Amino acid sequence: MNRSGGTNQNTKQMLSNSTVIKSKWKIQGKIGQGAFGETYSAVDLHSSEDVAIKVEKLDNKKMVLKLEVIALKKLQGCPYVVRYLHSGRQDDFNFLVMERLGENLADLRKRTPRYNGSFSMNTTVRLGIQMIESLEGVHKLGYIHRDVKPSNFVMGKAKNKRGRAYLIDFGLARKYRLPSGEIRPPRKSAGFRGTARYASINSHHSKELGRRDDIWSVFYVLVEFALGCLPWRKIKDKEQIGELKERFTNADLVKDLPLEYKLFMEELQKMGYADEPDYDYFKKLLMDIYKRQGCSEEEPYDWNTKEKAQMPPSREVSSIMDDAIITTGRNQTTANDERGYSSKPTPTTTTNTTTKLNARIENGENYYNLFNPNEAKSVDRRNTPKPNSDNEVSDKKKGCHCCIM
Ligand SMILES: Nc1ncnc2c1ncn2[C@@H]1O[C@H](COP(=O)(O)OP(=O)(O)O)[C@@H](O)[C@H]1O
Ligand SMILES: [Mg+2]
Repeated sequence: MNRSGGTNQNTKQMLSNSTVIKSKWKIQGKIGQGAFGETYSAVDLHSSEDVAIKVEKLDNKKMVLKLEVIALKKLQGCPYVVRYLHSGRQDDFNFLVMERLGENLADLRKRTPRYNGSFSMNTTVRLGIQMIESLEGVHKLGYIHRDVKPSNFVMGKAKNKRGRAYLIDFGLARKYRLPSGEIRPPRKSAGFRGTARYASINSHHSKELGRRDDIWSVFYVLVEFALGCLPWRKIKDKEQIGELKERFTNADLVKDLPLEYKLFMEELQKMGYADEPDYDYFKKLLMDIYKRQGCSEEEPYDWNTKEKAQMPPSREVSSIMDDAIITTGRNQTTANDERGYSSKPTPTTTTNTTTKLNARIENGENYYNLFNPNEAKSVDRRNTPKPNSDNEVSDKKKGCHCCIM
């Protein structure tokens, strides 16, 4: 599937390419497939403007598009959020029309010409600063995103937007303040929210997510961009990913990266649920790398360079897995195949897990020497708490918009 605006002849589509919505927007092709809906490229027949349209079937029990529309409208005050154009209902689907931006960062990383799927520091740091700025804007407007990951950032397309990453996909966004302006008290157990690969450890623990957790996801994204992958990249089981994250979110994870990565992580580790991130500090850390390494905006992003970096013989080229979305609350069983997540039950015996983990280690998973195979044997097979049934889906099904309004 081509998520960058091309057509998808081979993929089953909810809407055919000739569909016209409200006599105005003509569908051109599918660019995204989520657990709850699909995203299409389309053209405005009156103005010839390129748009993106997200649709969701009315019979979809987990209708989240309306809530996304509410959040997106409220977030228009942030210039680094995709522009909302229109929304409504036609036939048996709800739709959301947005300006059409460019490719998402996950797709761009896949086609980076660098040897191991990493981005250069120049590209990584510039994107990192932009991601933090986008989230700062969203947070200032009272929302947290809760699904920060490369495929939810797309590059601008118009002349005045080129070279800048924009935040999309507010399907999991949530207001973190009460109407009084106070931070909402955290629920005892809020369920897992986000995408397993990039979610904060707090999310794996079903904790209420706050502004810090969006920045934690930026941190994991930036580690992945700089190294080419994360240690849990081949693991599909959410619980195992959580265990590995706890084990490896320490100085070892960033030992081959500029010192500022460690400072970034340490700042996050100090933060509590209600704390406001020190956005300037996070941006300054990235700027320090940028300056020290002589980065420049004149340099093209990696996807615009033809140059291929040398591949060190000892390193394996990482096969970049796509994001594995797990929205336990929204949908317990739907695996987003396209993104490689399998909702198979977690292996119950230590032996099985160890064998699997060791197989992965042999498979190149010990790429960063993060993983001591002997240690893998002691992976704790505790049962992680079941997600609370008090979650966005059930809230929404009951027509309660409290999580997003
Ligand atoms: N406004 C847009 N412009 C360009 N591409 C977009 C736009 N909105 C979404 N996309 C593409 O569609 C994909 C899926 O959209 P998204 O809103 O993230 O839906 P999902 O909930 O399915 O993840 C994105 O990763 C991106 O590649
Ligand atoms: Mg998305």
